[in-house]
Amino acid sequence: MITKQHLRQNLVTQRTRTISYAIRDVVVAAKLLEAKGRAITYLNIGDPLVYDFQTPPHIVDAFCEAARKGLNGYSASAGVPEFREAVVEKERKINQVKIVSNEVIATAGISEGIQMMMAALVHPGSEVLLPGPAYPPYIAFVRFFGGTPRTYHCIEEEGWRPDIEDLRAKINDKTAAIVLINPNNPTGALYDPKTVQSLIDLAGEHGIPLISDEVYDRITYGQKLTSTAALAKDVPVIGFNGLSKVYLVPGWRVGYMYFHHPNGELAELREHILKQARIRICCNAPAQYAAAAALRGPDKYLEDVVKRLRTRRDLCWKRLNEIEAISAAKPEGAFYIFPSIDLQNRWKNDEQFVMELLKKTGVLVVFGSGFDPVFGAGHFRLVFLAPPVKLESSLNAIKQFLGN
Ligand SMILES: Cc1ncc(COP(=O)(O)O)c(C=O)c1O
Repeated sequence: MITKQHLRQNLVTQRTRTISYAIRDVVVAAKLLEAKGRAITYLNIGDPLVYDFQTPPHIVDAFCEAARKGLNGYSASAGVPEFREAVVEKERKINQVKIVSNEVIATAGISEGIQMMMAALVHPGSEVLLPGPAYPPYIAFVRFFGGTPRTYHCIEEEGWRPDIEDLRAKINDKTAAIVLINPNNPTGALYDPKTVQSLIDLAGEHGIPLISDEVYDRITYGQKLTSTAALAKDVPVIGFNGLSKVYLVPGWRVGYMYFHHPNGELAELREHILKQARIRICCNAPAQYAAAAALRGPDKYLEDVVKRLRTRRDLCWKRLNEIEAISAAKPEGAFYIFPSIDLQNRWKNDEQFVMELLKKTGVLVVFGSGFDPVFGAGHFRLVFLAPPVKLESSLNAIKQFLGN
């Protein structure tokens, strides 16, 4: 029998040691407190089903029906044709993106798409430009594959709009891709068409592909999303999207990527993503059939979802800005708000602030530096998916904590 003493040292690679995911890492501390009897309010995770949002019944029925029909075998690696076709229809109707189903690949959530994309794009020493702050897996996977994640400045005072000049200054020969997340996690920013166009122009000028993550495409509070691929004429764009947020099925793990490349510039990249898709066999088959039904089915429920979220967004934005030590830009999409905190020499950094807030109040948010050590520092991310009464009591607790 092999005992621990007999195992060689340094069993775990440096590559995996670098991985962190602040959104779930903070839960470890919360669970320890919970085990000691502390009530915890989880405002850390972007899962709409944690509180009072529910998957629409017709979407649940579609999943049951697919399983009952016996659609439980492995599927084609790139995804079942029904799903890929439904993606084409949805992207055309909702985001004005024109693609054919051959350009769509089903993934186990966008998360798998990010992993596959970085595996294919990142050479040792490559740089990927990411919004600062960014959704953490982008940072983690670029690093995991031996690249350097470089975040570009986003202007907090202007609703976290990307700073095009900073982005331009960071482009060099090693730049493998420019990522935009629109609407953005963690800031809730929604980029206006002019900003999207500037990003496209910059990418086109330098011959760099754009990766546009639009998983919150239909959760916006004023303007509608301007999808990157809809605006980019001859600039190659890889779109990432999925069912987790808008269709309220994060646990199904269904997402997709598509390639917009009028001159076929991304064909080789797509082939190497497909190779990875084949080696992992396929993603959840019945969920793909159900996802096709969800994408094609009634979407009236979404009006109510966005309406309720808007009330919660307004509440959090107003109440947070009433606190002297806090200032927060108004989110225009998604369900996150990313306020800055005056640490007042009371806390060493945003992580310590979040941990003490948790200990003293039971309110769990995510520290901003988990989304970028530079541009996320001195901030925290609050998820406003919880019902207003829960948000009210959490905001009271935050106010009291900062006042003391
Ligand atoms: C911007 C962004 N992309 C991707 C994901 C993950 O999506 P999926 O559930 O499709 O893996 C999230 C989840 O919070 C997200 O905020």
